[in-house]
Amino acid sequence: MGSAGGGSRMRHLIGIDIGTSGIKTIIVDEHGGLVARAFEEIALHTPRPNWAEQDPEDWWRAASNTVREAMGTAGIDADSIAGIGLSGQMHSSVLLDEHNEVLRPSILWCDTRTTEQCRWITEKAGEENLVRWVSNPALEGFTAPKLIWVRDHEPRIYDRIRRVVLPKDYIRFRMTGEFAMEVSDAAGTLLFDVRERRWSVPMLDAIGLPAEFMPPTFESIDVCGHMSDAAASEMGLKAGTPVVGGGADNTCGAVGAGIVRSGRILSSLGTSGVVFAHTDEVHVDPELRVHTFCHSVPDKWYLMGVTLFAGGAFQWLRNTLGEVEVSAARMLETDPYELMTAQAARAPAGSEGLVFLPYLMGERTPHKDANARGAFIGITGRHGRPHMIRSVMEGVTFALRDSIEIMRELGLTVSQVRSTGGGARSSLWRQIQADIYGAEVVTVNAEEGPAFGAAILAAVGTGVYGTVEEAADDLVAVASRTEPDRESAARYEECYGIFKSMYPALKPGFDALGAMVGKQA
Ligand code: XUL
Repeated sequence: MGSAGGGSRMRHLIGIDIGTSGIKTIIVDEHGGLVARAFEEIALHTPRPNWAEQDPEDWWRAASNTVREAMGTAGIDADSIAGIGLSGQMHSSVLLDEHNEVLRPSILWCDTRTTEQCRWITEKAGEENLVRWVSNPALEGFTAPKLIWVRDHEPRIYDRIRRVVLPKDYIRFRMTGEFAMEVSDAAGTLLFDVRERRWSVPMLDAIGLPAEFMPPTFESIDVCGHMSDAAASEMGLKAGTPVVGGGADNTCGAVGAGIVRSGRILSSLGTSGVVFAHTDEVHVDPELRVHTFCHSVPDKWYLMGVTLFAGGAFQWLRNTLGEVEVSAARMLETDPYELMTAQAARAPAGSEGLVFLPYLMGERTPHKDANARGAFIGITGRHGRPHMIRSVMEGVTFALRDSIEIMRELGLTVSQVRSTGGGARSSLWRQIQADIYGAEVVTVNAEEGPAFGAAILAAVGTGVYGTVEEAADDLVAVASRTEPDRESAARYEECYGIFKSMYPALKPGFDALGAMVGKQA
């Protein structure tokens, strides 16, 4: 523990995560102890199939409310806040005009309207140049295709764009008046030279986007703004409090789980599901099935596979078929997900042949297919709610195993996986993960996810700790271990083979459905 900041008074750090389901603010003390947390849900708008949008004003309102609420709960002096770290959903576009007003709702990472624009970008830049310039393929979720979509479909809005930022950087602007982006989020725009950690001028030029749109970039631990008077009084903080770069939700989640050294792998079950592997050097999958992005640890990188709808698929199940659990949970004052997983435990491993494909929002890794759809396959009269719930948990986990298999193919050893997100809270889902991955699954003592990682970055950036590695080693410890069960693992091996055969078999049908719905929209 460093002693910068002076005096014996306890210092505190704030982490704010601009998530898709909502905004979370936490306050931790300088030893990493949780002092307060607050969460506010955010509406997700789907005006058309495959579209997903949010209003940046909703993020700001919720960020401001949750900081005020957390400060109230903590009952601490605003003077004791040494720094603030921001984390946020990646890729989602925020377009600002010359007065820094938001021009249209944010087009989110899980919105897949941009297939045509991805095709155009790939043709215009050339696949080899994409690898050379930005280390990644053009995928629907990334930011650049969204900008091209607005240029193609909303030219009057496009003409008024002066700035492009990402969700957490918009909140930074509202807090500090400064425009800044840090490398881990910039890497997800498809406009950033991931190897050199700077904007890619050849890429911006090739697709005709002005470099002036993009803000200056920093490393995640750099201080890149201070609380303005107006924002400080709105949030109940002190003007001048430093705000560090922060990071993408995935890198912040990784930092918060101690994934800051080679050999550590994270499986995160949030709205999206993510397999994340720290690397000391840049590695690019020759087939571009997994992404290569900049880590929030200075001068480090990571490989990542993404299942677009993981916890999101489970939430969908709760919202559509979980009415019984939702009302029972209300009466019992418990969490509907707990009742759902208790039901799932009544079905055996493999759900007696019921297979679920979790591609409700299309799929990224490994299929890169916006037309992919969700499916229950193999339903018989014997299957009931326990099987359906369990097969959703299993299908999401098989989809994450697809990413783990690619990491293994690239030479990474996967003997232990750290599990975070909602899925890590369920002992059943942890066991399913261990059995399906064929690896030990561990959880860590830090349960606050990306917001905690953001607070760690703030602690490093303001001198409370010397390095991200030192802070993570000190603050993150293994809390539980789940070993694979031999019998279930063997059964899942067979199920995984069947799961993998389903997508190619159904692909022509998915494409036909996509074309039909596209015509009707
Ligand atoms: C990563 C991705 C998602 C979002 C979720 O590429 O699109 O994991 O970051 O917020």
